[in-house]
Amino acid sequence: MLHIEDDPSNRLLVRKLLVAAGHEVVDATTGLDGVRLAATAHPDLVLVDINLPHLDGYEVTLRLRGMPDLAGVPIVAVTAEGDRQTSLAVGADGFIAKPIEAATFARTVERFLRGHRERADETGEHRLRERAEKIVARLERKLGELKEANTRLEEMARLRREFLQNMTHELATPLTPVVGYLHLLLSEELGPLTPLQRRGLTSVEASTNRLRELIDTLLDVSALENGQMHFYVRDYDFGKLAARAIDDARAAATNGQVTLEAEAIPTGLDAVGDPDKLRRAMAHVLDNALKFTPRGKHVGVGVRVLGKGANASFAFVVADDGPGVAPDQIARILEPFYQVDGSPTRSHGGVGLGLAFAHRVVLAHAGSLDVQSPPAEPVAGRTLVGTAVTLRVERRPPPATPPPKR
Ligand SMILES: Nc1ncnc2c1ncn2[C@@H]1O[C@H](COP(=O)(O)OP(=O)(O)OP(=O)(O)O)[C@@H](O)[C@H]1O
Ligand SMILES: [Mg+2]
Repeated sequence: MLHIEDDPSNRLLVRKLLVAAGHEVVDATTGLDGVRLAATAHPDLVLVDINLPHLDGYEVTLRLRGMPDLAGVPIVAVTAEGDRQTSLAVGADGFIAKPIEAATFARTVERFLRGHRERADETGEHRLRERAEKIVARLERKLGELKEANTRLEEMARLRREFLQNMTHELATPLTPVVGYLHLLLSEELGPLTPLQRRGLTSVEASTNRLRELIDTLLDVSALENGQMHFYVRDYDFGKLAARAIDDARAAATNGQVTLEAEAIPTGLDAVGDPDKLRRAMAHVLDNALKFTPRGKHVGVGVRVLGKGANASFAFVVADDGPGVAPDQIARILEPFYQVDGSPTRSHGGVGLGLAFAHRVVLAHAGSLDVQSPPAEPVAGRTLVGTAVTLRVERRPPPATPPPKR
């Protein structure tokens, strides 16, 4: 039996009485949960309180009566405030007034199980119309509230985007002279350096570079959010680019004690696009594979050529031995800031931008980003059990393939 009731002590009492009489009881505490449970739990009988949060008992009854799966399943209103005739008018088969009489409750309920039905009187139609009017009025109010909330959310999102853009700009501007003077100092154009001064400046340079990388990521976020990422298109070699990305990832693999195995990369993969962005996209995919793969396991990487000539596409495939990605999460992890819930992801840090960035970049190259879990085929000669991410780009994407605006 399904019991929809928000009051905990009533829930407990009804459960006790019905279980003692040999029935099984599932509880729902709101109207919405009740409707959902009714669809999945296949109850033999539904007991519904009238005064409920979200949808009230009349609305729940109306809704349940519209579900073909529940045809013939008795619905009984159990309530102190509710009204018998309205309950029957909306489709209930019976009405039990609160407070519940412990001595007779189970027997009364069982009568409905055996087919007992109460009849609505001639006021039914009128009451039904009254309910319908109330429901429409409530819906109207709710829709108004939702619209307002939505406007507020949009405004907040706009402010956040603007803040991000301004902040990034404010951070980047003062860094430019710092980098410029550092360069002049280190190349001794402003005078000779003592070894000690050089050591000091080299350490400043390392920190400055880190700061620049952070600001670059922020710039990417900002560009992603505003749907205005800029691409600097030129000739490049896809194979060499992939090889560089793989080399750059070796240190991280060693640190994480993961074996990074690369297939031999084909040569002469000349292409047109934005190699800097593509290399960063590859780095993000490699970074994920390495950080999600446990110590002692493997990551495989390879480059594939699909099609021939100017119409060919090139793919960069990274497969890992990590926990994999659940099918319903695959589309979501491409969204900016989305991270799969659960300890491994959270404990690895990151902000949830890598794949969103990579996705944007390959779309701008008329390509695609494909996530497979587990990988469908071996990579670098190894069958891996986690995830395979494939970045595919056109060799010669049509000149203006702007990233789609969000
Ligand atoms: N190889 C993978 N194995 C398992 N889960 C993955 C893998 N790649 C991505 N994910 C899931 O997708 C989420 C989004 O990945 P994404 O690269 O966009 O962000 P991130 O790695 O969390 O942060 P960032 O890349 O910004 O440092 C991850 O948090 C993780 O939940
Ligand atoms: Mg990442």
